[in-house]
Amino acid sequence: MAKEIAIIGCGAIGNELAQNIDNKIIPNCSLNIIFDIDQKKIKNVYEKLQNKPIIFSNFKEFIESPHFEKIDLVVESASINAASSYVLDIIRKGKDIMIMSIGVFSDYVFYKEIIQFLKKKSINVFLPSGAIGGIDIIRSIKNHIESITLITTKNNKSLKGAPFFLNNNINVDEISKKQILFDGNAEDAIKQFPSNVNVSALISLAGVGFKRTNVKVIVDPDEYNNIHEINVKWKFGEFTIKVINKPSFENPKTSYLAILSATECLRSICAPDLKIGS
Ligand SMILES: NC(=O)c1ccc[n+]([C@@H]2O[C@H](COP(=O)([O-])OP(=O)(O)OC[C@H]3O[C@@H](n4cnc5c(N)ncnc54)[C@H](O)[C@@H]3O)[C@@H](O)[C@H]2O)c1
Repeated sequence: MAKEIAIIGCGAIGNELAQNIDNKIIPNCSLNIIFDIDQKKIKNVYEKLQNKPIIFSNFKEFIESPHFEKIDLVVESASINAASSYVLDIIRKGKDIMIMSIGVFSDYVFYKEIIQFLKKKSINVFLPSGAIGGIDIIRSIKNHIESITLITTKNNKSLKGAPFFLNNNINVDEISKKQILFDGNAEDAIKQFPSNVNVSALISLAGVGFKRTNVKVIVDPDEYNNIHEINVKWKFGEFTIKVINKPSFENPKTSYLAILSATECLRSICAPDLKIGS
């Protein structure tokens, strides 16, 4: 049966997913609800769709509506704050969810609550591989990892708005030379760069956790791409994966690969086939 989908967040990811559902690029599903706190973002998505969904700009109205009752799968493509506020309420209502703001799992209380809930109820929480690859290897070797480091390189525009700059009284526009901004663990990296290092959260969940996953964030004014390099040493070998991503047109913080990964994850949920590399 075709799945009924609700999307939270009509930005770079939500916009393209909505169109991909509408155009049947993602088959066997329909987009029934879009929810965003920004009316302009809703309008931008809504106007382009042939099959018009119900729209909401208030979470309480969204989750308490009879339309929500019929939803099979919610897609979160908004922000870590949104995921933190909404996800538990959504899964308590028995809905499957695909989460893009994976950094939310660096909050241990949230992580524990989700895991405890999933042990009791058969709800699916899908976490797409996003802007990186190699998650399959990390999951396979997790009990043998000696060290794991993510090195993320982005330009000033892609990093702009991160709490790191306010916390350290740095004007990101004035940085003119490539330099390491942050060198620490994934938990702290997500606090400082919540919209930039969601990939470190996925690596942490797949591997050795947020405290043992090292993250370096580098600003490079001459680099147009968003680059993620993962270096892993483990008992029976080592590997490096470097993914050089073009930013999405709509949001320079978000790599276009993340949108494709969300599309593919949704497609595999709605139109199951061989589970390749999972
Ligand atoms: N997993 C990954 O690899 C990966 C990669 C890229 C982006 N992301 C994350 O996915 C999320 C979406 O990315 P994007 O590029 O589409 O962002 P975006 O900024 O382009 O769009 C986010 C949208 O969500 C809306 N929004 C924000 N807070 C909200 C709330 N509390 N309730 C409802 N709507 C809210 C905004 O108004 C905006 O329209 C972000 O958290 C981003 O960090 C994850």
